[in-house]
Amino acid sequence: MIIANWKMNGSKDLIKDWITSVSENIKIQDEKECVFCPPVGYLNLSIELIKEKELGIKLGSQLIESNLSQPLTGGVSPEMLVDLGCEYAIIGHSEQRTYYNENDSQLINKIEAAIEENIKPIYCIGENSEQKKNGTKQEVLMKQLDLIKSNYLSHLVVAYEPIWAIGTGENAEVSHINETHAFIKEYIKTISNTANEIPVVYGGSVNLNNYKEIYSSELVNGLLIGGASLEPINFSIIYNQS
Ligand code: PGA
Repeated sequence: MIIANWKMNGSKDLIKDWITSVSENIKIQDEKECVFCPPVGYLNLSIELIKEKELGIKLGSQLIESNLSQPLTGGVSPEMLVDLGCEYAIIGHSEQRTYYNENDSQLINKIEAAIEENIKPIYCIGENSEQKKNGTKQEVLMKQLDLIKSNYLSHLVVAYEPIWAIGTGENAEVSHINETHAFIKEYIKTISNTANEIPVVYGGSVNLNNYKEIYSSELVNGLLIGGASLEPINFSIIYNQS
């Protein structure tokens, strides 16, 4: 699974150019999902273009609201996302935990609200550089995974995104990724009642130079790509050759 996370980038023209170029260069395979997460304001345009080009790319939202019982200026409900054609939502990204002050109970609610509407959460977890240095990575990851009720776990895609690797150009070493993905998968098995393995994707400075080595690991079920996903030819190459 290859996910493009555009963050707060783009314009109508850039979205049109990207989808046109990707549709000319990418070879979508049924068994390898491709998910495009543009800013929420461009979801509608994106799905229209994806349909027009008959491009087998799925749509994901960077935003989702769980507080559904009261009027909420600025809220985007899971139902609206379904109406817009979204099948995925990124939840728990470190940038939202930091800049939107998302707390644990909001994350739990968002995950549950998404699943109730059949939107698959891409649940981001990862340690910061301090936690990496002081050797508390596993505790941090366990705490982030413990938030999710075991019956919801089987509906997730987990994205391991070490915070120190996001947007820094400093991707995690493959040995670090392998060790961490193995830990996450094993830990999920101990707390989940599902027999199916939950996909664990890696994100953090993935680019044209490092994707092959990272994705070649059988413990890596996909890539969550930020900055490098903006360039359509490079993104298509990463998809086609991973
Ligand atoms: P990056 O972002 O690829 O630019 O490091 C990844 C992400 O934040 O999802």
